[in-house]
Amino acid sequence: MRKPFVAGNWKMHGSKAMVISLASDLQAGLGSIKGVDVAVCPPAAYIDLVKTALGEGFVQLGAQNIANEPGQGAFTGEVSVDMVKDLGCRYVIVGHSERRTLFGETDLDVARKTALVLDAGLTPILCVGETLAQREAEETEAVVAAQIRAVLNQVGVVAFENVVVAYEPVWAIGTGKTASPEQAQAVHAFIRGLVAEQDEAIAARLIIQYGGSVKPDNAAVLFSQPDIDGGLIGGASLNAVDFLAICNAAGDACSE
Ligand code: 13P
Repeated sequence: MRKPFVAGNWKMHGSKAMVISLASDLQAGLGSIKGVDVAVCPPAAYIDLVKTALGEGFVQLGAQNIANEPGQGAFTGEVSVDMVKDLGCRYVIVGHSERRTLFGETDLDVARKTALVLDAGLTPILCVGETLAQREAEETEAVVAAQIRAVLNQVGVVAFENVVVAYEPVWAIGTGKTASPEQAQAVHAFIRGLVAEQDEAIAARLIIQYGGSVKPDNAAVLFSQPDIDGGLIGGASLNAVDFLAICNAAGDACSE
């Protein structure tokens, strides 16, 4: 039985006042939520502030990205995995489609970052997903397979014991256009199958989140799919009421 995992990706949103208020509202509201792991991924500049505002609750922290280099060094503007670990992060999002498309990250870059996160003892949230053009050209499985296999080749299947995958169809991100539960389930099952080719037990335990316009009104039906184990939430994670409702939906789906 996999415990669902919901993470909020705040992207480049917020201010000191806004993140303190959002974290405090989450802290207050999450007490009653059961059967789900929850994390928030604030902008790096606010991780420390959010940690203080969240206090000692069960909400974990994640970073949205890390430098493609280990250790320290002359990499102006970059934030290392050791730094986000030092700030208290347990998770790091790697390979978000915005990093891939806007910042040119390749499958190999993403694989390398995944290895850096694992080496630091943190859990990568590995994002994969196809663009609309790729879906229309019936390339979804080929694209997702290449993205997953690049990481499997780099870190090995055993490391997937400590990897979370997030399937985020690019055409569903920030567009209000969610993949149907059937479309999402099909790709989730495909991803689990890719890992199962190498290790069935690890594949059976692998948490695969869905991301892309998850809202309180569509979360329950998505999370009730057999291979969807929670979500990676963008826009709706900036609103405490909505995010709490989505976390609740994941907890309920688990206990069904
Ligand atoms: P939205 O929920 O805003 O579509 O964003 C999804 C996402 O990119 C999470 O990483």
